[in-house]
Amino acid sequence: MQIATPSSSFSLRLTAVAALSLTAAVAFAQEVQTVRIAHAGPTSGGIAHIGKDTENGVRLAIDDLNAQALVIGGKTIKFELVAEDDAGDPRQANAVAQKLCDAKVAGVVGHLQSGTSIPASTVYNRCGLPNITAAATNPDLTKPGYPTTFRLIANDNALGSALAYFAHDALKIKTVAVIDDRTAYGQGLVGVFKTTAQQKGIQVVAEEFTTDKATDFMAILTSIKSKKPDAIFYGGLDAQAGPMLRQMEQLGMTGVKYFGGDAMCTEKLTDLSSQAGTLKDVTCATGGASVQKMQGGNAWKKKYDARFPGQFQIYSPYAYDATFVLVDAMKRANSVNPKVYTPFIGKTQYKGVTANIAFTAKGELTTPAVTLYNYKDNVRAALN
Ligand code: ALA
Repeated sequence: MQIATPSSSFSLRLTAVAALSLTAAVAFAQEVQTVRIAHAGPTSGGIAHIGKDTENGVRLAIDDLNAQALVIGGKTIKFELVAEDDAGDPRQANAVAQKLCDAKVAGVVGHLQSGTSIPASTVYNRCGLPNITAAATNPDLTKPGYPTTFRLIANDNALGSALAYFAHDALKIKTVAVIDDRTAYGQGLVGVFKTTAQQKGIQVVAEEFTTDKATDFMAILTSIKSKKPDAIFYGGLDAQAGPMLRQMEQLGMTGVKYFGGDAMCTEKLTDLSSQAGTLKDVTCATGGASVQKMQGGNAWKKKYDARFPGQFQIYSPYAYDATFVLVDAMKRANSVNPKVYTPFIGKTQYKGVTANIAFTAKGELTTPAVTLYNYKDNVRAALN
C-alpha cells in the first residue's frame, strides 16, 4: 500500500490541474468557426470564363488560408466560399449583393464588371459589408468614398491614357474610330481614351456603339471602314472583341490597329476571334503587372495551373490577393466581424502575389501598375 506523503499528494494535485487545463486548451483550440467569403461575378453568360477564373482565385486563396489553420478571436477559422453568379447584369448584381448582406457573409471579392460593381457597392455600403473588386476598372466605383469599397487593380484613367499614349507615341496613330458596348465600363474607358488621344492630337473620326450581348458588327465596321481610320478603340469585353476582329478580317480591315482595355485582354481572345489575322493588330492593357513580373507570380501560376488547368484568364491572382487582404485585416483586428475589421482594410500593408498592397483613402491602390499586351503568334504576350 502506498502512503501519500504531503509532497506527493501536492504533485498529484498539480498533475490533475495540468491535465484539466490541457483538456480545456485542446477543447479551446478545437473550437472552429466557419467564416464565409463570397465571390460575386459573371459565372454564366458570354464572359463566364473570366468570372470562373476570378472565382478560382478566391477558391485557391481559401484552400491556402485553411491550410494555415488561423486562430482569430480565439477560434480556429475555417473559411468557406460562397460563389454567386451576377451574370454580368446590374440588376442581378444588386440582388446578389442584398442576398450576401442578408446571409451575413464576412466579406466579398467582387464584382467583376463596373456595371455590376458600382450599383452593388452601394448595397454593400448600406449593410457594412467590405467588397474588394479584382477587376472592375471604372473610376466612378470609388468616387463616393464608401468605407467598404476597395479596388485591387489600376483603374481606367490609367488604362485608357496608357493606351492613348502608346497609340500616339509608339504607333504614330493619327486617326481613330471608337466603339463602346454601352456599359459603364465600355463607355467610361472610351471616354478616357478619347480625351487623352485628342489631347495628343489624334483625331476621332467615328464614334459607334454596340452592346455587351452583340455578335454581329458588320454594319458598324463597314461604316468605320469608309472613314479609313488608322485604328479602332473598343471599350468592351472579349466576347465581342473576338468576333469583331474576325469580322474585320472578313471586311479586309487587316492592318487597322485595334486597342482595348482589360476586359478584352484575355488569353481566350485568340479562340474568340477564331485566330483572325487581325489579332496581330491588337494592343490591350490590364491594370497590374503581368503574372511573369508579379513578385510571387511564377510560383503562384504553377499552383493555379495545376489546380485549374487551362482556365487562367486575367484576374485570378488579384482575386487571390483580395481574399488574403480581407483575412489580413481580420487578423489585425482579431475579429471576423465586418463592423470591426473593415476599418483595418484601409490600413493594409500586405505583400501579395500581385504587388505590395496599400490603399488610398478612397480605396484605390496607392501604386497601381499597367501592362500592355499584344498577341504574338496568337499567344498573348506582355510588352512591358
Ligand atoms: N474592367 C472591366 C470592367 O470594369 C472588367 O467592367
